[in-house]
Amino acid sequence: MIEKAIGILKSAKSLFVLTGAGISAESGIPTFRGADGLWKNYSATDLATPEAFKKDPALVWEWYHWRQNIISKADPNPAHYAVVDLEKKLERFLLLTQNVDNLHQRAGSKNVLEIHGNIFRTRCLICGEIADYQKPSEPANSTLPKCTCGGSLRPDVVWFGEAIPQDIWQNSLDFLSRADAALICGTSGIVWPAAAIPEIAKRGNTKTIEINLEPTAVSSIVDVSIQGKAGEILPKIVAALG
Ligand code: OAD
Repeated sequence: MIEKAIGILKSAKSLFVLTGAGISAESGIPTFRGADGLWKNYSATDLATPEAFKKDPALVWEWYHWRQNIISKADPNPAHYAVVDLEKKLERFLLLTQNVDNLHQRAGSKNVLEIHGNIFRTRCLICGEIADYQKPSEPANSTLPKCTCGGSLRPDVVWFGEAIPQDIWQNSLDFLSRADAALICGTSGIVWPAAAIPEIAKRGNTKTIEINLEPTAVSSIVDVSIQGKAGEILPKIVAALG
């Protein structure tokens, strides 16, 4: 299977990459689904919806501060660095990530689009300004982040029931329509619209490769499905590309 993936990538000039929480798992960041997934222990309805934030912003911020803390202590892993190498090797490259953890950018990826936002940015509910997260004055947990305009700040992430950024989605589809290959890594493939990427790629005759620990909702759609850890498989593929 890995040989088939290498063959596809060797003959590709343009590559679309879609990543999910699984690519950051080896950095120690919990995924959402699966045995130790966040949604096993936390309620998405109570923590990741606009209604939840309206009802209890302190609880939602507590959860995001906790996640920010885990992510801040984590470093990019070999899978993130392999994606950086792929960007350097391919003539044209676009990375669409569902992750909010910034690890692709920290590893050195350049052409990155974030479809679910970024946990280290805030958005003002009043003036709409998007800014880098600034820790509120101590104690952080009892002080809710405020904008300079006085408005409440929320994490600049996409919550359940919210629209994804349309420009990012459109740019992704435009790139995908001209891509020779699509690599889908570390996503369960069930959250829309990112979950539609393999099917869209297939319809456009783009070769599709999946890397995941286990079979997923899209494994039967892709041309090559490789089971294993992203941090082991991706560097092997990159090394074989020379
Ligand atoms: P999930 O938690 O749904 O899926 C993570 C996937 O990564 C699973 O299929 C795992 O098998 C796989 N995986 C785990 N460790 C891996 C490893 N070392 N190497 C390769 N694969 C591995 O995460 P996403 O698909 O990213 O949305 O979830 C999509 C969206 O659902 C998230 O962006 C988030 C969540 O609710 C929002 O918060 C809006």
